[in-house]
Amino acid sequence: MTADLITLDLLAVALTAAAWLAAGATAVSRKALIAASLTGLGVLLTAIRVVLVVLLGTGGGWWFVQEKALLELPLQAVTAGAAAVVATRRLLRPALARGPLEGDTAPVAVPLFAAGIAALSGLVVTLLIGYPVTVAVALVTVALVALLAVAAWWVLDGRPRGVVLGAGGVAFVVGVAGALTTFAGTPATDAGGGPAIAYPPARGVSVATLTGPSAPAPGGTVRHYSLQARKATVTLASGRKVAAWTFDGTVPGPPITAVQGDLVEVTLHNVDISAGVSIHWHGYDVPSAEDGAVGLTQDAVTPGHSLTYRFLATQAGTYWYHTHQDSNQGVQKGLFGSLVVTPRPARSRAATGVTAAADISVPVHTFDGLTAVGDRDTLDTRQVAPGKPVLLRLINTDNVTHRFTLAGAPFTLDAVDGNAVGGPGTLRQTALSLAAGGRYDLRLTMPATSVALLVDDDRAHGLRLLPGGGRAAAAPDTASWPELDLLSYGRPAARPATDAGPFDRRFTLVLDRGLSLSGPVKGRDWTVNGHAFPDVPTLVVRKGDRVEMTVVNRSLATHPWHLHGHSVRVLSRNGDAVTGSPLTMDTFDVKPGEVWKVAFTADNPGLWMVHCHNLVHASQGMSLTLAYEGVTDPYDMAGMHGD
Ligand code: C2O
Ligand code: CU
Repeated sequence: MTADLITLDLLAVALTAAAWLAAGATAVSRKALIAASLTGLGVLLTAIRVVLVVLLGTGGGWWFVQEKALLELPLQAVTAGAAAVVATRRLLRPALARGPLEGDTAPVAVPLFAAGIAALSGLVVTLLIGYPVTVAVALVTVALVALLAVAAWWVLDGRPRGVVLGAGGVAFVVGVAGALTTFAGTPATDAGGGPAIAYPPARGVSVATLTGPSAPAPGGTVRHYSLQARKATVTLASGRKVAAWTFDGTVPGPPITAVQGDLVEVTLHNVDISAGVSIHWHGYDVPSAEDGAVGLTQDAVTPGHSLTYRFLATQAGTYWYHTHQDSNQGVQKGLFGSLVVTPRPARSRAATGVTAAADISVPVHTFDGLTAVGDRDTLDTRQVAPGKPVLLRLINTDNVTHRFTLAGAPFTLDAVDGNAVGGPGTLRQTALSLAAGGRYDLRLTMPATSVALLVDDDRAHGLRLLPGGGRAAAAPDTASWPELDLLSYGRPAARPATDAGPFDRRFTLVLDRGLSLSGPVKGRDWTVNGHAFPDVPTLVVRKGDRVEMTVVNRSLATHPWHLHGHSVRVLSRNGDAVTGSPLTMDTFDVKPGEVWKVAFTADNPGLWMVHCHNLVHASQGMSLTLAYEGVTDPYDMAGMHGD
């Protein structure tokens, strides 16, 4: 709904501008009837815009309309009003008489043009500036509209009067003042627009010292892995060759597994990835120094160098790892793998006769436009004995949402981003939409017939489970299956009182696309609160804070929102609270027009990236940091996105 209103309003403002400009042009050519009709249309469209903006504001929230309510509509209303008055006085009579416009055209056409320019400026402000619009931007906009109107007068009249020139002069001064304020630099304020928080003091503890234990928990072991980052030509199942960047020559990289309580120790060696590499443990709340965020928690590992990561396997579940240096390019090219931690089995497990499940990781990745399960870009099949429990670990390693459908057996969605769902209900003919970076654990019992797992309803690919010899039955058409809403799935449980606040910190992140002069692209970047990385103000917290984060998507693209080092509890989406099992995630899709409220406890001191997991967006500005007070960064952010 909100997304539709955003689109409709963009359409309306473009049409409004067109109507006024056309009215001006027809007035110049003295076509009184057409000019008068277009003026009427302009007034009507302006009124429609007011209605749209009111609907957008009441339905979606102030973030969606601030620049429209404070700048665009007033400017449009004033200019449209003036144009309508002038046009009525000069156009109505000749229009009714079907005659031409007599006399000077400039006094009629210029107000019409001005209304058009004002409407056009609204489009530009929404597309380039967005939320929040500042006084400086407002001054520049008003001045530019006035200057363009004066210019129009000059062109049409040839000998402008003093008053017009005076107006132009005033507009020029206002514009320069506004521009100066803009470029004098915006003070860094709290991202919530709340009380300004000072940046962490220079003294304090370096993030490099925030490591974890170096021994496993009692009963655990050390799981040592050694990964070589290197270029390799990988042959996919279809025979297609991909020039990949790999861990150990394979895509995905070697699965990393551990049992809860183990110490995971991974030595990364960069052979020949000149952009540099690192390993980020996506969704795993490791100590900050082990987080792999280049520029923030480490320097990139360059060719010929090594680095060892060490962390305790505390959370059981499905996770994944990927490079966090130039991650847009690196992950796409193959620098990722699965990270699976299983619960420590109870001692008596063997005696209880529990059959171990067929545990299958399903990392989905797109190579040059073709989506594959692991490196299987053809149909992937596995044999599973009938009656055996099956655990499918879906991992979306791509930049976009994938839709999964499972046909041939009822199943449950047992975990989301590694977090167990309480009382998961049985699902049939239901699609699951998985955010980029997110994971789902599906559980089923292998039937006597084949089971199909489809990605994006593609019946020719995906995974097939076969009960014995023979071939998979043809997969059904799943395109019409409805999508599960996670917010109402599972057994409701009393939410911890802390979910309701009070919160020590409340941050609001408004996601959009706009002009940024300092962002990575220096053009239309993906922005957070009007800024592109590295200019997005840091979120500062103190250990122990209860934090509420509101994520607003003003843009027309989906943003899988991801926070390092912490999982968040979902409070609500578009004002609707969670009605199913409490929902804990580390990557959640904020679709166009959506507003998500999530909460977390600041319990993992350090410096953390917060970003969109569409890594194209992240590399084009949609990133920021969460910093604990007093933690300092000895690394260089500049090289973070590589080149
Ligand atoms: Cu999987 Cu910073 O990301
Ligand atoms: Cu995004």
